[in-house]
Amino acid sequence: MNKGTFYITTPIYYPSDKLHIGHSYTTVAADTMARYKRLKGFDVMFLTGTDEHGQKIQRKAEAIGVSPKKYVDDIVEGIRELWNLMKITNDRFIRTTDTYHEEAVQNIFKKLYDQGDIYKSEYEGWYCTPCESFWTKTQLVEGKCPDCAREVELTKEESYFFKLSKYQDRLIKHIEENPDFIQPVSRQNEMLNNFLRPGLEDLCVSRTTFNWGIPVSFDNKHVVYVWIDALSNYITALGYGSNDDSAYKNYWPADVHLVGKEIVRFHTIIWPAMLMALGEPLPKQVFGHGWLLLEGGKMSKSKGNVVDPVILVNKYGLDAIRYFLLREVPFGSDGVFSNEALINRINSDLANDLGNLVSRTVAMIDKYFDGTIPEERDGGDFDEDLVRIVMETPKKVEDLLDKLQFSSALTEIWKAVARTNKYIDETMPWALAKDESNRKRLAGVMFNLAESIRILSILIQPFMPETPLKIWEQMGIQDAGAMDWESTKEWGKYPRDSKVNKGEVIFPRIDLKKELEELEKMVKPEESPANAKAEEPNHGKDSQKGPKKSETVDGLITIDDFAKLDLRVGKVIEAEKVEGADKLLKLKVQLGEEVRQVVSGIHKYYTPDEMIGKNVILVANLKPVKLRGIESQGMILAASNEQNLVLATIDKEIESGAQVK
Ligand code: MSP
Repeated sequence: MNKGTFYITTPIYYPSDKLHIGHSYTTVAADTMARYKRLKGFDVMFLTGTDEHGQKIQRKAEAIGVSPKKYVDDIVEGIRELWNLMKITNDRFIRTTDTYHEEAVQNIFKKLYDQGDIYKSEYEGWYCTPCESFWTKTQLVEGKCPDCAREVELTKEESYFFKLSKYQDRLIKHIEENPDFIQPVSRQNEMLNNFLRPGLEDLCVSRTTFNWGIPVSFDNKHVVYVWIDALSNYITALGYGSNDDSAYKNYWPADVHLVGKEIVRFHTIIWPAMLMALGEPLPKQVFGHGWLLLEGGKMSKSKGNVVDPVILVNKYGLDAIRYFLLREVPFGSDGVFSNEALINRINSDLANDLGNLVSRTVAMIDKYFDGTIPEERDGGDFDEDLVRIVMETPKKVEDLLDKLQFSSALTEIWKAVARTNKYIDETMPWALAKDESNRKRLAGVMFNLAESIRILSILIQPFMPETPLKIWEQMGIQDAGAMDWESTKEWGKYPRDSKVNKGEVIFPRIDLKKELEELEKMVKPEESPANAKAEEPNHGKDSQKGPKKSETVDGLITIDDFAKLDLRVGKVIEAEKVEGADKLLKLKVQLGEEVRQVVSGIHKYYTPDEMIGKNVILVANLKPVKLRGIESQGMILAASNEQNLVLATIDKEIESGAQVK
């Protein structure tokens, strides 16, 4: 039965924000492949995990005053719980903070250094001190920092470099000779024409400006560049670079790395070049899928749609969500996610087509044959066409799944579902049942319906882990040989004397209008369209020139403009001066359950001690900025004239987080 190994990976996720439905996309797709290959008899290794190092995470942790590890631990736990909820069957879960991974990355870095593929030099770039960021000349906007629009300085930083340029020709050759290496083909051309053929530069692979990373073992003021650290996970998870590399020997090279289109470049240029340098085989394929988008904006700034996978799964059931993700958009293309599209799909494909087919069939067998599926087969009208369409489906599904064409594979299955539903209309069992002389034909029709449902329920298994079990329960299928993937290729394996069990509707219909209203209420205030608009950056550049769009010509604003401000009562719980900046205080301000870090220019007028315990008014939906390299997540209000500044506060005690309007 063993057909060999199949190694599939997802990217490892940044545990910096809550995962949204777009993140589940890659993982559900990978899980579907893993399930499919297991059903086909492959020895599958399915890897996912978390990418935990880097400056971004260090800063987020600092902002709330915890260690980076403590910061990520809780989020990683949440990610694991999400994958459990979504019945993701990963065989391993790697965290880049796992000791075995850190040691293996240090070994990889040292090996590449020892053999001369990594060398020490100087990184030259334009440095923005408040943001602690390097920029290339072309990234600057009017010669200033693209993030904060402040002055930048030409700076040099000692760094290690990887000889990426050395591998350019071999990479081009590999891509040209292996057309399956980068899929879909459009991404192949993009890599060749936009990056490889114009020429590669050596890659800076260490940093000294922050320390949340894997130290370079022989020069520990440097930490390894996060992408070198992260990409290595695909082999360190299998024990590469450790004492036990048996899994590596068994499963590498990977059959497919599934990744979103924005990270194809890292996976098809840096990663294979690293492997070439290490003398290891390259993955067989990198598949760059498209994005799920929200109309008019990024998923992370959801406008008016619920995108939390936990809420969606709890509301509509896991299989409905998994079906939608893989059915709605061809894998490889971008597609639009909306709650409305999701509900429409559930109603049409799941409730109407599949759900109805099962419940009608169960009800008819129950009514006409007292629940026992009859054995007679008679080959009446329409039978041949039904059997042909259903029997062509498994092969089509396999061919499409082998090419990761999830949506087309589901389309094929649903064509057969539609054909079976049509068979009911054509054969009209309710009319046959009226006349005893049609008994044999009626039995044949029931058998064909049951057999068709059996085959289709097996084919949906990789996509939907729960529905086949429900169908088998209702259709009385218990025999393993009748649920086996290979049994889809043989018509007539429905077990003798199976008895149907009328059960609950598998996919209840949803009242679209009512449901959308309910979902609308669940979208948090900061996700509502009005506030999302207020978040749109203007980079502080056009604010001087004439009225902004929302202002009236006489300088007055409307109540709607004012409503865009999210003003909150905050309680100062910590305060300290910012080293090297006389005017600035760094505050921790509590807003209900949330704590914000705010940098405020009030030190001349208030000492840190005076600030602790004060109730302030905070502009809570201001785009964060960095002041002296410290992120400020809001602004506190104060009244000032040329001599003095006094904080705006509130008249009586009220809980922190309360809205000011
Ligand atoms: N940590 C890196 C990957 C390192 S792999 C060695 C990373 N992490 S991520 O959390 O930002 O993204 C993980 C995956 O989620 C990526 O494949 C990304 O494309 C995918 N998605 C995130 N948002 C998405 C959508 N809105 N739609 C589809 N996929 C999206 O990148």
